[in-house]
Amino acid sequence: MTMDLDASLKEELSAMERAGTLKTFRHIASRMAPEVAMEERKGTVLVLSSNNYLGLADHPEVIAAGIAALKEYGAGTASVRFICGTFSIHEKIEQALAKLHHTEAALTYVACWTANTGLIPAVAGEGDALISDAFNHASLIDGCRLSKARRFVYKHSDMADLEAKLQEAKNARRLFVITDGVFSMEGDIAKLPDILALAKTYNASVILDDSHGVGVMGLNGRGVPEHFGVEGKVDIITGTLGKALGGAAGGYVAGSQALIDYLQQTSRPQLFSNALPATIAGSAMKAIEILAHEPARVARLRDITKVMREGLKKRGFRPLDGASAIIPIIVGDTVFAIRMSQALLEEGVFITGFGYPVVPEGVARLRIQMCASLTDAQIDFALDTFEKVGKRLGVIV
Ligand SMILES: Cc1ncc(COP(=O)(O)O)c(C=O)c1O
Repeated sequence: MTMDLDASLKEELSAMERAGTLKTFRHIASRMAPEVAMEERKGTVLVLSSNNYLGLADHPEVIAAGIAALKEYGAGTASVRFICGTFSIHEKIEQALAKLHHTEAALTYVACWTANTGLIPAVAGEGDALISDAFNHASLIDGCRLSKARRFVYKHSDMADLEAKLQEAKNARRLFVITDGVFSMEGDIAKLPDILALAKTYNASVILDDSHGVGVMGLNGRGVPEHFGVEGKVDIITGTLGKALGGAAGGYVAGSQALIDYLQQTSRPQLFSNALPATIAGSAMKAIEILAHEPARVARLRDITKVMREGLKKRGFRPLDGASAIIPIIVGDTVFAIRMSQALLEEGVFITGFGYPVVPEGVARLRIQMCASLTDAQIDFALDTFEKVGKRLGVIV
């Protein structure tokens, strides 16, 4: 018999609650910054799980640029790009993004989710093949699902398996290798030079989602291609404006002029969904400018990430290795990750526990994400709090 929708949804929610896996939403009542006010709690808490890598979300110049664009262009475009929603600020930010990524052109979307799911089905269809890393972000996975191309998944960062899949798919009309730059749940970095070499052998195009790499990797924060010295060699780069570049929202595709021209004509979110609001373009453009002029922010982020990682190890934790600003600590099951997150919050450290289905059951984790504007005192406080809670919960002795 057909079930009542709400009743069946409530039943599933109750099951999550009983299993201890129901997510709790906290309400931040101030700007995103290392310390925030929280509705549920008196005083401030230290945030160690935002994507505000460079600390630009509350930067006065970034906020002012957003306000200026809001005043100049109004609340929104009230149109998709091709009807009457292309404003001069879109052209400006797209030029800045192309420059950042050493590509001919770039195109913005309202989110990187939209960019990935708008890009992949546009460029890959019947007769084509997509070869995707097993740990790729959900938006890349969904982008692949929306495409009529054949789909292959290679074992995470396993170059032998990637080559096997390239062999299997080599007769495709168009061939794509798709990877995150920095893998968001592990914090490790794609083997980009190897991927590029393999792709070249098979005449495949590489799609790199560098959402967690931009602002973080490379001496100037231009991402994983800069880190490996291969700027200008990646066919297609996608990214977000919602992390290091101001933290608002928005995403983009950067690549050849032909690719961008084609996406403007065919990518469904470009045709059927409103353009990026000017205020976001304004604040993100300022963030890109700050990134270009203040490499010290990127260096600070790198240095304090090292301090945090070493500090955790000294206290008995075993964070996953990596060079990005993501430091995962595997704690076991989802229920325990949520419990530890709650215990940390009670002590003033806000860090979300991740469990199933975001990561497989058994490897639930706390994912620390660093921010360049954290002070040394805040990092010490975080480490001391981790130690206190870790001991109390038996994660460390
Ligand atoms: C690798 C990666 N790609 C894409 C996205 C989606 O970005 P946005 O928030 O701009 O949609 C995320 C966000 O978590 C991400 O981590």
